[in-house]
Amino acid sequence: MTTDLEFIKSRLSKPVVIIGLMGAGKTKIGALLASALEIPFVDSDQEIEKAAGLSVAEIFEKHGEGNFRDLERRVLLRLLSDDIKVIATGGGAVMNNETADLVFGNSLSIWLRADIDVLIERTGRNDKRPLLKNGDPREIFENLIKKRYPTYARATLTVDSTSAEKEVTLQKLVKTLAEHLQKTA
Ligand code: S3P
Repeated sequence: MTTDLEFIKSRLSKPVVIIGLMGAGKTKIGALLASALEIPFVDSDQEIEKAAGLSVAEIFEKHGEGNFRDLERRVLLRLLSDDIKVIATGGGAVMNNETADLVFGNSLSIWLRADIDVLIERTGRNDKRPLLKNGDPREIFENLIKKRYPTYARATLTVDSTSAEKEVTLQKLVKTLAEHLQKTA
């Protein structure tokens, strides 16, 4: 893995943006990747919370999803316009057309994709996600999969993140990235 990491570091010319459904591991794996590459890591939800002084759930509740999506687009525009880093997005970010064009046009995008059972299990560990508060999580995820997977498929690369071992996913991600950068060199 060390050789792959050195290679990626020498070739990476754009920010890496991680997309995918809630529970896919975008924040955890994104942070591990950034640390392995010794570049900064930023989570767009955390940046939105800092800028608004409210949690994601509070923004949805007080200002509505539309306002949240607008904040999300503005935060991503800012994050994509400075130094190379790894950016984890919220699962719905690229469902906004302008945000999608911004992300797919200006980054090396990676879709982290995990089995539905794993997504349900991981997101069931806390109640931070407003979209999962009303209704049956499996039905909600099935609908999101139908709606969102065609857009997520626009990502440059796709990596499976079903494994409970974060290191396994990180290794797959590093290998996939190195192979991609070799091909496009
Ligand atoms: C959302 C995903 C969340 C957060 C918000 C909406 C979505 O982020 O942005 O609750 O629309 O899928 P995570 O994917 O990091 O959970």
